[in-house]
Amino acid sequence: MCGIIGISSNKPVSGNIINSLKKLEYRGYDSAGIATLFEGEIKEVKSEGRVDSLEQNFDLKNLKGNIGIGHVRWATHGVPNSVNAHPHSSHNVSVVHNGIIENSTILKKYLISKGHNFKSQTDTEVIVHLITENLKTSELEIAITKTLEQLHGSFALGIVFKEMPDLIVGARRGSPLAVGYGPNENYLGSDSYALKAMTNKITYLEDGEFCLIKKNQVLFFNEDGKKINKKILELSSDEANYEKGDFKHFMAKEIEEQPVTIKTGIKEYIDRTNSDINIYNFPWKISEINSITLIGCGTAYHSCLMSKYWFEELTQLDVSIDIASEFRYRKNRFKKDTLYIFVSQSGETADTYAALDLCNKNNMKTCAVVNVIESSIARDANFILPIHCGPEIGVASTKAFLGQILILYILVLKLGSLRNEITKEIYQEKIKDLQSLPSLIEKSLLIDNDIQAISSTFNDAKGSMFLGRGFSYPIALEGALKLKELSYVHAEGYPAGEMKHGPLALIEDGMPVVVLAPRDSYYKKTISNMQEVIARGAKVLLITNKSKDEIFSENIWETIEVENTNDDLLPFLLTIPLQKLAYYSALKKGYDIDKPRNLAKSVTVE
Ligand code: M6R
Repeated sequence: MCGIIGISSNKPVSGNIINSLKKLEYRGYDSAGIATLFEGEIKEVKSEGRVDSLEQNFDLKNLKGNIGIGHVRWATHGVPNSVNAHPHSSHNVSVVHNGIIENSTILKKYLISKGHNFKSQTDTEVIVHLITENLKTSELEIAITKTLEQLHGSFALGIVFKEMPDLIVGARRGSPLAVGYGPNENYLGSDSYALKAMTNKITYLEDGEFCLIKKNQVLFFNEDGKKINKKILELSSDEANYEKGDFKHFMAKEIEEQPVTIKTGIKEYIDRTNSDINIYNFPWKISEINSITLIGCGTAYHSCLMSKYWFEELTQLDVSIDIASEFRYRKNRFKKDTLYIFVSQSGETADTYAALDLCNKNNMKTCAVVNVIESSIARDANFILPIHCGPEIGVASTKAFLGQILILYILVLKLGSLRNEITKEIYQEKIKDLQSLPSLIEKSLLIDNDIQAISSTFNDAKGSMFLGRGFSYPIALEGALKLKELSYVHAEGYPAGEMKHGPLALIEDGMPVVVLAPRDSYYKKTISNMQEVIARGAKVLLITNKSKDEIFSENIWETIEVENTNDDLLPFLLTIPLQKLAYYSALKKGYDIDKPRNLAKSVTVE
């Protein structure tokens, strides 16, 4: 969380810092700030709220200086206000920080005893004073190494110094950080997205490393303070993906892009000529894998759950799933014959990365299903399966979810076939069925009018429920997450068969309940559960697939029918109305759809 930008140049930097901060707002938007160095002084501007407020509150054209750092914050320590906004500065050092300093209380006591005064409630301010303190007795590189050693927790840092007017120091432990190279200027950024408008030449810092950035030179150091060489990567340019085009919101654009997401995934992974799946070069023998553990957070966790149903249906593999923040702190029995799969859009989610790191440290087999291929998770897994859905900017994950479940489904088919658990005929039939998925999604997207009308009922309700069984259960969880995240309506996802064991007590007259009941092997059971909630007054929105067969149930409030396909692929189609329901609910309420309150796109703190 939080976004960092730093520029050392031969011309004024505030304009480019502002532009980069606007791009970084998806990482945090509680407050924003900039510090530049000009005529031997640190000039600092900070404001509560978005980058727009910073622009309104200060005359940024007059913020001079050829070097500067900027930050957008997602609050962890201290309320979101202008005092707690970054940068934080002492008389000679200014710092922007992403992450959490776990020993900040102890360090603060020590620094106060040394005469330092604190202005904010943040953990970041201890870094400022610690560097200031260490610079009293040590040269720059030693002072940096010493400071980093004293900090516990996670960080990405950008630091400027009053006495060194062309230098930015960057340092990383846990939170991602990249360096970019431009003509007569160099950059520091919390991700490549922040830097893309200025350069496509990037170097990523690894954990423990720090760097010294001047306008014509960048030096890298390892955690012992020894100079190291690092590779420069060239990023592909996909600027158009970062624009909304004719859409009102990125989320709307990303929902509509889903047929392309699926088409691209199929193109990347399916060999149509041979009706085969192009996943080769596994770094392990397939015969060495007997079980699978899938790990992720939020929507990515729902993708893991979805794939568990497919793995169990189509293979003999033992499958378990885990929420990354739980996995990393449990006593895990690591097993050599388990493949650990990490699912993440950003590839930077702190808990998912920590779980991967733990598996790597225990020499486990690791695989990443990620969207951002330059990300930490992608770089550190043994094997990577990219989602290829292009940048997802809206905080609510939509096309990345369909991208993740597509790649996981393809992996299920491949492993099932390699293990001879799926016959050649079924394998090829399922590959063939996949080809029609993009056009089915396209048709299922044409429901805006129906969903718009329905969404008001959800907005006016105290709470709502999303029910499904089998393949539809993970989708029910995802639908509920989307609604609460975007329209701040209480929404619970439940296995339809669980209702009688407690949650049925919540059903009262007029409560909106979404029932996912496609005509698969669970259909009849789900319809019975639906009747039970209708009998208790629920207003049921039934989402099913098209069929000639009549639905034998009375008093259904509304029905939406998606296209028809095989049972495995129905979850893709059922997802669409739920994404649109959340979108239109938030739109009606006038909420900030791409940046819902309290959330950030990339959760790089635990
Ligand atoms: O980048 P990741 O896929 O690792 O992110 C995981 C979750 O933070 C993310 O899916 C979150 O739940 C979304 N905002 C949901 O829409």
